[in-house]
Amino acid sequence: MLRVLVCVSGGGTNLQALIDGVESGQIRNTEIVRVISNNRNAYALTRAKAHGIEGVCVSPGDFSDRETFYHAFLQAVDEASPDLIVLAGFLVVVPEAMIQKYRNRIINIHPSLIPSFCGTGYYGLKVHEKALERGVQITGATVHMVDEGTDTGPILLQKAVRVEPGDTPRTLQRRVMEEAEWELLPQAVDLFACGKIIVEHGRIMIAQ
Ligand code: GRF
Repeated sequence: MLRVLVCVSGGGTNLQALIDGVESGQIRNTEIVRVISNNRNAYALTRAKAHGIEGVCVSPGDFSDRETFYHAFLQAVDEASPDLIVLAGFLVVVPEAMIQKYRNRIINIHPSLIPSFCGTGYYGLKVHEKALERGVQITGATVHMVDEGTDTGPILLQKAVRVEPGDTPRTLQRRVMEEAEWELLPQAVDLFACGKIIVEHGRIMIAQ
């Protein structure tokens, strides 16, 4: 069984897609062992609870400085003994010590086709605002490994989504979630669980 830890900050629709995937059998050999949120009021924690998954809040506001917060966060991660960590709408920059410790075992979902509309400052609705401002006709989502940079890690899966006339950042965000994010993330976890991910020289290969 692949032990998956999911880190969240908000609504948790991507977490829900993972829960549904595990429950329906679309994601094989996987158990979501813990959900960590930096935000006590994240609806994602309610979703976890409703499905019998342990939810833990580690909030920066409860600690005197960043270092102490990171220490507690990493402890909450280690306690879960995860094989794979999924950042599903997690708005905290993860500590370098965690990236080193769990190298090639942390994935993130980003709501654009990397390398477009990514990097520092590109999160949430901002990504879609920028895509609309630039007038792109195609956007999408990317699942990638997390390395020391912001959205710079090896790309695992991508899916394109069409921008429609009259789209607002919110309508586009919704379409990217429905057509790409909720499909790619369960698929990525299933690939891990089936041992199909091979990382070589900073590139990902998917075994057939
Ligand atoms: C998603 O758009 C995800 O790509 C981004 O943050 C959003 C999280 O949504 N990183 P949710 O909390 O999974 O509903």
